Amino acid sequence: MCGIIGILAEKDVPPLLVEGLKRLEYRGYDSAGIATLHDGKIARCRAEGKLANLEQKLAKAPLRGNAGIGHTRWATHGRASENNAHPHATDRVAVVHNGIIENYAELKAELEKLQCRFETDTDTEVIAHLVTHHLKQGMQPGDAANAAFARLQGAFAVVMIFTGEQNLLVGARQGTPLAVGYGDREMYLASDSYALAPLTRKICFLEDGDRVHITREGASIYTNDNKPVVRPVRITAQSGATTGKGAYRHFMLKEIHEQASVIGDTLNSFINPATGHVSIPESALEALANAPRLTMIGCGTAYYAALTARYWFEQIAGIPCDVDIASEFRYRQPPLSAGGAALFVSQSGETLDTLEALRYCKKQKQKTISIINTVESTIERESDIVLHTLAGPEIGVASTKAFTTQITTLACLALAAARKRGKIGAEKEQELSDALRHVPAQVAELLAGTEGAVESIAREIFECRDMLYIGRGLLYPIALEGSLKLKEVSYIHAEGYAAGELKHGPIALIDENMPLVVLAPGNDPLFEKTASNLQENAARGAKILLITDKAGHERLKDHVKYAVALNDVHPFTAPILYVIPVQLLAYYVAVAKGTDVDMPRNLAKAVTVE
Ligand code: G6P
Repeated sequence: MCGIIGILAEKDVPPLLVEGLKRLEYRGYDSAGIATLHDGKIARCRAEGKLANLEQKLAKAPLRGNAGIGHTRWATHGRASENNAHPHATDRVAVVHNGIIENYAELKAELEKLQCRFETDTDTEVIAHLVTHHLKQGMQPGDAANAAFARLQGAFAVVMIFTGEQNLLVGARQGTPLAVGYGDREMYLASDSYALAPLTRKICFLEDGDRVHITREGASIYTNDNKPVVRPVRITAQSGATTGKGAYRHFMLKEIHEQASVIGDTLNSFINPATGHVSIPESALEALANAPRLTMIGCGTAYYAALTARYWFEQIAGIPCDVDIASEFRYRQPPLSAGGAALFVSQSGETLDTLEALRYCKKQKQKTISIINTVESTIERESDIVLHTLAGPEIGVASTKAFTTQITTLACLALAAARKRGKIGAEKEQELSDALRHVPAQVAELLAGTEGAVESIAREIFECRDMLYIGRGLLYPIALEGSLKLKEVSYIHAEGYAAGELKHGPIALIDENMPLVVLAPGNDPLFEKTASNLQENAARGAKILLITDKAGHERLKDHVKYAVALNDVHPFTAPILYVIPVQLLAYYVAVAKGTDVDMPRNLAKAVTVE
């Protein structure tokens, strides 16, 4: 969703602002803009669409100034247009904002009575007018901003510059992240540390409710009742060099290829490489040891990670599980049993529905465990226990390496919980932890062995209108994830089904134009069941793409049009590996169609609105 950057420097900041905005593009946006202070006056440049449009406008009419703010906007209130693009400004202040001001209509009516003239359809514009109103009453910029913040309801991160204040940025964090960056006689504010990676690794993450005044000399942070407060400054692991696309054409492909190493890093954080012993923080195991029920929550890909893990928690650890989509769960408000555990999966740690589901579970006295990729996120801060996936920054909007590290982490957690609950013997535990330890090498092998085949198949099917994916057991959530990946990046309509469910309706869609992806490892306990489903569809002319192993291929090759045969993998770890061919398929179909793979239309990486 929206991205924010603010910079105070000694040189002209527009090129730095645009560079920062490029690093915020991954969040998803549909317009962008910057504002600077030049000779004490606010100057703005905004454009609808991609940053290239903003760059073209800046090339024709460059902005100057050593203080400035920038924004990428994902439209919520008011359509995506240049006029609605941030920064929003009056003659006294320019503002960028991420989040939603819930009481903007009431504030707007009040301000209109004071003769403020509104020019946009956004909720953000009320902030600019409120601050201006307080400035006109004679308040200092920091006080005027505070007085405005106090009136705002909803979630927001805001940064502003003021006419005549060449050495000041004011920011606030309320529910939506904002980070302060420390440079060499330069200071920054941004939505995330990734945006600042080439400029500085010295970062301070503001806490909820914090307000901050930045000058070139440093940052003064205050709580929302105006008490000075010190927040820790940390050195992030990110740097400009480690966060580029490298030799890859897209971040999505780079991130698919990174999976061998990031799954390895994640496993190494939980499994002793010498003994195979799985170590999970005792607090997480305590939470699961006696829980009568485990509730798992996520959105999008993270939800499918939870759906996958349900099989492990139920079958290996013997824990009754519920899995739900955060936006449904939070409003359904199911009663939860005392002593229960609730587990949240989120790459960003900022997804609003997941956060609200977590808050609901806390009120229901559940022990909360979160699996998060981005450090210092809001969900992390509010959870009782956090397990980190070590995927590193994921920039492609379609999640790939975050998903495989999530399910890897969940597999480790399920294994350790099974031991804690006395549901698994030492021998079986060793077998399953060995299976996990083999995954990184198997991923590398799988990529080397199948990428070319998947690319060729993608070139043959990319013009189809619809596609179906099926699987059973652990491969059913992978069918769902495969279809989601395809929809996201190629805009082809796709659905995933439990293989046994297809004949209860969707089979009516099957004809010779409909590719049907069947996920069926030959050594899966349910292989024969899926094989029957495959044959039912082959008999009706379906164009089948079978993803299987050598034995499965041998058994079914006469019934399928395309096949991708993987090396044998342990059924326990099959979802971690079998998702990779469907990621590649979505990627290469999207490339063949020529879509914007890393930033598909309408999507946002972290969804901070309901
Ligand atoms: C958005 C992203 C998806 C992601 C989902 C949940 O819709 O586009 O890729 O799976 O949010 O995000 P989270 O950060 O909570 O995992």
